[in-house]
Amino acid sequence: MAKKQKKLDEVSGVETTGHEWDGLEELNNPMPRWWLIVFFITIVWSLWYWVIYPAWPTISGATEGSMKWTSKKELQEQRAEIDARKEKFEKRFKTASLEEIKSDPELFQYAMAGGQAAFRDNCAACHGTGATGNGQFPNLNDDDWLWGGSLEQIHKTISYGIRNGNDEAHNSAMPAFGKDGILTKDQIKEVAEFVININKNGVDKNHKAYQLFADNCVACHGKNAEGNQDLGAPNLADAIWLYGSEPENVMQTIFYSRNGKMPVWKGRLSDSTIKQLTVYVHSLGGGN
Ligand code: HEC
Ligand code: HEC
Repeated sequence: MAKKQKKLDEVSGVETTGHEWDGLEELNNPMPRWWLIVFFITIVWSLWYWVIYPAWPTISGATEGSMKWTSKKELQEQRAEIDARKEKFEKRFKTASLEEIKSDPELFQYAMAGGQAAFRDNCAACHGTGATGNGQFPNLNDDDWLWGGSLEQIHKTISYGIRNGNDEAHNSAMPAFGKDGILTKDQIKEVAEFVININKNGVDKNHKAYQLFADNCVACHGKNAEGNQDLGAPNLADAIWLYGSEPENVMQTIFYSRNGKMPVWKGRLSDSTIKQLTVYVHSLGGGN
């Protein structure tokens, strides 16, 4: 190709590159000086970066860099900083009683943060993320407690669990009145009707199933069906049903019994974590 003659743009007098599109010609202006300066700075910066940081792939990994920086080390440093901050609280937290934690704003906040995280990891699978429960798992937000809503009671429930075979657990259970032949099917139907009726009319002494209730149920659920937290026997007069309020639900409860289970947490979670969970659950609403 023959070398083209230099051509000048008529308006600006600047040399053109010879590229032309439909009459538009490209001018051969030099790069602006500021742009060149920035460009060279980035080159120098990248050389510096290659030297001090891991940069070039090698067969076994990458060049180390003169600072020996690794993301793992950075994480460890951040962890150590968090641990140091936590330790300050941990020491006080470990020795403080549940009541003290509740009334100390700093410790309370610490417990809430830790408790919420531990709840998500360990409890939400059964009790739901908002601790609202579902199906056979109780709602922990209301002030209806099977085993008691004081700090001490919640702490015991979480530590040892429910009907899991551990000696310290809450182990009392409702008999399976039908399955074990204590009551007939007809009697179960009647007493189920009676129990459902409690929500409307209270404990009705004139109901034909009153005697069945008095003989078989009062020992645990109480004279006025108010329940007994030492036995985990729910209040049957409060219109809150764990296992459903339809006649077939209630009959099934009485026939087979339910006896929900919850795992032991002592030994699996640290004592501190269990205390945090206790304060968290207590705060959800309805803590006594
Ligand atoms: C495997 C399922 C399961 C897991 C996991 C679980 N729970 Fe439970 N939890 C239950 C069941 C079922 C009950 C009700 C048992 C009953 O009927 O008495 C219960 C009851 C409770 C109660 C008593 C409520 C009351 O009314 O007295 C508390 C408090 C509680 N759980 C807290 C927790 C905490 C905190 C965790 C996490 C460390 C947790 N649970 C993990 C199944 C579970
Ligand atoms: C030995 C104590 C005991 C006796 C006796 C007993 N219960 Fe229960 N009952 C319980 C316990 C404990 C629970 C809770 C089970 C659970 O949470 O899994 C329960 C739960 C129930 C529930 C479920 C409530 C809900 O919220 O869904 C009903 C209904 C019930 N009982 C009715 C009866 C009736 C009717 C009788 C008498 C025929 C009776 N119970 C006798 C201990 C007892």
